[in-house]
Amino acid sequence: MSLWSTFLAHTDVHRPVHKWKHYLPIYERYFRDFVHKPLLFMEIGCWKGGSLQMWKRYFGPQALIIGIDINPACKAFEEDQIQVRIGPQQDTQFLQSVLDEFGIPDIILDDGSHVMSHVNATFDFLYPRMAKNGIYMVEDLHTAYWQEFEGGVRRAHTFIEKAKGLIDELNADHTRGALPPTPFTRSTMAIHFYDSIAVFERCAPQAKIDLVIPAVNRVLDDVIDQLLRLEEQGEVNQMVSLVQFEADPVMLMQAIERLLQQGSYRPAYVTALVLYKNGRQFWIIAFALAVGAVLFNVADIRAQGISLLLRLSDELAQIKQEEWLRSVIAPVMIALLQGAMQRNDTRQINDFLAIVQASAPSLRVWLAEAIRAAAAEPATATELLLRQVLQRLSVYSIQ
Ligand SMILES: C[S@@+](CC[C@H](N)C(=O)[O-])C[C@H]1O[C@@H](n2cnc3c(N)ncnc32)[C@H](O)[C@@H]1O
Repeated sequence: MSLWSTFLAHTDVHRPVHKWKHYLPIYERYFRDFVHKPLLFMEIGCWKGGSLQMWKRYFGPQALIIGIDINPACKAFEEDQIQVRIGPQQDTQFLQSVLDEFGIPDIILDDGSHVMSHVNATFDFLYPRMAKNGIYMVEDLHTAYWQEFEGGVRRAHTFIEKAKGLIDELNADHTRGALPPTPFTRSTMAIHFYDSIAVFERCAPQAKIDLVIPAVNRVLDDVIDQLLRLEEQGEVNQMVSLVQFEADPVMLMQAIERLLQQGSYRPAYVTALVLYKNGRQFWIIAFALAVGAVLFNVADIRAQGISLLLRLSDELAQIKQEEWLRSVIAPVMIALLQGAMQRNDTRQINDFLAIVQASAPSLRVWLAEAIRAAAAEPATATELLLRQVLQRLSVYSIQ
């Protein structure tokens, strides 16, 4: 039975229900998942008891409806599945005694005094104490704009103003440190506003974890973290077995890309080597292989990496955007060339230039541009070195 039908079917003249018409579809939208399930439903504000009966009928035989009211006469509304406790909604000791008696509410509907300080105090106390997937709804919030309920347009401390602040709290994780995440941030899925109603949908903290389907990103982060830890411990063999056990080559290629970008060359090299030995031939593997072999002076792999690069450069032009060359590969090459130039390591410089030469034509262009830009600045030792690299690059591109 829909809530609307339940509402219309309520014929007890001694127990009227008082709701705005547009509230009913809003209730239904958030409450329907709880119908015919074990449920603790708390309504603050009983009036003549009709709404308590309506909720009982709507939610079915497994629901316990708790009414809260300041008026002792409301105790008379108790019946099977309906319990009423008498006390002020803003009294947190009283609210705690209700929680102690009945447990954690799944749904809380505040239709009590509608006085802003009461609504705020009730929310602050009950919201963190309710079910993780619970719904907290405050109705008749037009009172937030009325002086006699401590309201007013944009007046501080009305529930509407508080809820506006809670929007920022909900998004605290994205404020780049400006707002610290709070228990509210972690436990709230959504805030919805309607004419006179605010709804808060709670969630378990895990519900807001960054996830990509297929779930590559978390696994990717984990693999990178583990590789970096093993690198710190000098456990190259364990790095090899870690990569061997990872079944997803696409994810491993992303790992290589990230590791190169952050200057973690050995884990990138080890990953590339394992993939290569398992028959994988992609440009990023060849690139990491060649770079690693040069850095760690592995002669035979160096030659294989560079010849693989030469073979795969066409593929690179097809599969990668120029942006990728500019943002990922060129900075790696520049950093490595700078290092080699500073050490005046002629062998390494020549090897790196061979890698550049073997790479896609646009990489040579980006690299030359980047070096030219750096060298155009007032001369420093590094820039002078870069100038020399540029000269060498020009020699190579003439060949
Ligand atoms: C709008 S009526 C509730 C209507 C009812 N929920 C319905 O839908 O028919 C508000 C109720 O809140 C109760 N109330 C007022 N101030 C209160 C307070 N500080 N704490 C608890 N209940 C309060 C009143 O006695 C009254 O019964």
